[in-house]
Amino acid sequence: MASTNPDRRLFLSMGASAAATLGIALVPAAAAEQTAGGTPLKIGIIGAGREGGALGTLLVKAGHPVMFSSRHPEALMGLVAGLGPLATAGTVAQAVDFGDVVMIVVPYTAMQQIGRDYGPALAKKAAVIDVSNPIAGRDGADFVKSVAEQGGAGLATAKMLPGARIVRGFNAISYMKLAADAHRSGEPVGVPIAGDDKDAVAIASALIRQMGFEPVLVGGLAMGKYLVPGTALGGEHTPAEIRKIAAGLG
Ligand SMILES: NC(=O)c1ccc[n+]([C@@H]2O[C@H](COP(=O)([O-])OP(=O)(O)OC[C@H]3O[C@@H](n4cnc5c(N)ncnc54)[C@H](OP(=O)(O)O)[C@@H]3O)[C@@H](O)[C@H]2O)c1
Repeated sequence: MASTNPDRRLFLSMGASAAATLGIALVPAAAAEQTAGGTPLKIGIIGAGREGGALGTLLVKAGHPVMFSSRHPEALMGLVAGLGPLATAGTVAQAVDFGDVVMIVVPYTAMQQIGRDYGPALAKKAAVIDVSNPIAGRDGADFVKSVAEQGGAGLATAKMLPGARIVRGFNAISYMKLAADAHRSGEPVGVPIAGDDKDAVAIASALIRQMGFEPVLVGGLAMGKYLVPGTALGGEHTPAEIRKIAAGLG
């Protein structure tokens, strides 16, 4: 792909891994081009539970090196052993350091602490994919109300991770459905996404396609409040259904 930007040419010729080895944050536009072109990106996953484990598995199958993380990484050895050499396990700090892209898949109550501990590092990532949801039954009604008062999941995540290139996605497709839905025959399952940074949206979109789904941008991060279970966009829909539902929101 032709590019007149010398930084882009440099990073594209170096590749994501080489840039990371040299301790250079990957330029988001270059990362977007690399991913769209099918070049692997290093993905760090914070929260390798049910949903994070299933999403990371799809990313490995798509050919990306993935570091799954836990506050107890030894508990992830079985998961990564079954996924082959592209999968590794580490601490949360190691996964943040590893990833050109970081996926956050934790109870939403943990986001504040993740922002405090890793906010500056996450702000340097090409994209931060936020899969986490505030859920009253798990996190408490008062907590969910306070997130809503900040504009909902999306704007609240941006407040807790200042400067990060956030894209919400995969928020309401069950971990139990991901493997069967990926690359299904016929019309693909749509994944509604919301984000303000166009390069991060391009990266997330390319990754979602490679994982076997069709991304549908429903709007900026403010629309992230609809990307939670229990809204009309929750669950599995075709891309056309998502566009139709999203047109009635906002
Ligand atoms: N389950 C689904 O089908 C589904 C679908 C879409 C979205 N989601 C959303 O995804 C998120 C995770 O759901 P889940 O069902 O995967 O939960 P889960 O199985 O309980 O996994 C949560 C993970 O978060 C990690 N975690 C918790 N607090 C953390 C902290 N302070 N710092 C770093 N990591 C922390 C835990 O890691 P360690 O304890 O190992 O450190 C654990 O692996 C939720 O917000 C949920 O709403 C879930």
